[in-house]
Amino acid sequence: MVESTGNTKIKTAIFISGNGSNMKNLIKYSKLKTSPIYVNLVLSSNKKANGIRYLKKTKIVSKIFNFKNKKDEEKILKILKKRKINLICLAGFMRILSKDFIEKFNGNILNIHPSLLPKYKGLNTHERVIMNNEKFSGCTVHLVNSKLDSGKIILQKKIRINKKDNPRTLSKKILKEEHVLYPKALKKFLSRT
Ligand code: GAR
Repeated sequence: MVESTGNTKIKTAIFISGNGSNMKNLIKYSKLKTSPIYVNLVLSSNKKANGIRYLKKTKIVSKIFNFKNKKDEEKILKILKKRKINLICLAGFMRILSKDFIEKFNGNILNIHPSLLPKYKGLNTHERVIMNNEKFSGCTVHLVNSKLDSGKIILQKKIRINKKDNPRTLSKKILKEEHVLYPKALKKFLSRT
């Protein structure tokens, strides 16, 4: 169980697949004195991820992996161990980690999902929410377990959907909330006693 004592920051890796706005936000947050995390490593499942381009301007080590087989996961676990990573934050990470990987990492893996879980697990969340004429949506930070988007919920933020919203506007609105929610959830998760 990871826990922040206030003196030392938790060595954290971020896993991404795309744009990386949550990653950038977490990196920014990690630099605050009051932040419980220190971002030590970023792994991407996509070599063309925008987030990777951004990292070239920083000193943070980044690596690309397919995340598609056991061999990859074994290599990743080795790197995490070598860099003494205690926590993984999934941020727009679009691969599914194996049960074995999650267990080997003691379950210290968080994810952010753009819906009010347990509703709308999986992909194309905003499209499905709009199609179903939902009045509310939001985002959730949760622990990762072996079932997709089903681990213990740490924090959620609910927002109202306007009649004029479409998947694009909704995604933009929710992303803004994600950037507030993820640091808050980290603080809550890491200060539990
Ligand atoms: C975010 O909305 C995140 O919640 C979502 O992808 C987007 C990534 O944006 N994640 C998932 O759907 C995971 N199943 P970002 O790359 O700009 O952080």
